[in-house]
Amino acid sequence: MSRTVYVNGEYLPEADAKISIFDRGFLMADGVYEVTSVLDGKLLDFAGHSKRLARSLGELDMALPIEMDDLLEVHRELVRLNDINEGMIYLQVTRGAPSDRDFAFPDPDETPSTIVLFTQNKPGLADTPVAKKGIKVISIEDIRWGRRDIKTIQLLYPSMGKMMAKKAGVDDAWMVEDGMVTEGTSNNAYIVKNGKIITRHLGTEILAGITRNAVLRFAEEAQMTVEERSFTIAEAQDADEAFVTSASTFVMPVVEIDGAQVGAGVPGPVAVRLREIYLEESRKAAI
Ligand code: PDD
Repeated sequence: MSRTVYVNGEYLPEADAKISIFDRGFLMADGVYEVTSVLDGKLLDFAGHSKRLARSLGELDMALPIEMDDLLEVHRELVRLNDINEGMIYLQVTRGAPSDRDFAFPDPDETPSTIVLFTQNKPGLADTPVAKKGIKVISIEDIRWGRRDIKTIQLLYPSMGKMMAKKAGVDDAWMVEDGMVTEGTSNNAYIVKNGKIITRHLGTEILAGITRNAVLRFAEEAQMTVEERSFTIAEAQDADEAFVTSASTFVMPVVEIDGAQVGAGVPGPVAVRLREIYLEESRKAAI
């Protein structure tokens, strides 16, 4: 079924949605994005995603071509028009399409930002059998740029990481810099040891996941201990449990790292419980 998408103020059938070849997102990956999950036809943590979007845009001196309040209505309208019960909404803002290719930023008064949103229908997203089995990861060197706290559309290396994982017969990759795990290709990484949840501290080296923020809050509310520090692959392989979080996977257990089984090799109790709490609380707060 053809989707209705949103491009620069218009709702259009996907086949009619067009972007200029001079768009700086296309030519220079000069843009930012957000992925917001939909459960029961409602948006999960829209406030968190819009706050991070504003921050990403601010860090790159880019303007949002729509009022933040109207953005919520666009999300809701796309959910309605495409009849999404479970899935995601992808949003991308780029520095627009000047009249030619030029490294210098265009004058924002002459070149408005481009905004695109589309839905991804994923029935069964919350109840995926993958979460009952857990995923396997390999480690790869983190060679991304130094501002990973900005959610830019430069996703070539994460895509290459997913391909390296696929070639190795596993599901995903964890990236390592200076011997320490930064994050997954499209998620934040965690281990659990003696009941303690360990995940890398925030900084420019990783994205401040919206799911991470919620999960750490729920963990503390459930009296679980959280330690925000970096860890090595060896420590992760020796942990009782491992998991990742993201808007599209929620809390996903990791059962193998570089061929070594983590814990019992099945989803651990902390990850399973956190997934339950996350889904339950997020559904309650969804708008
Ligand atoms: N990825 N780290 C990276 C590098 C990511 O790309 C993502 C999200 C996260 C988790 O952030 P959040 O919890 O806000 O989704 C961490 C999205 C889902 C994607 O690229 O599809």
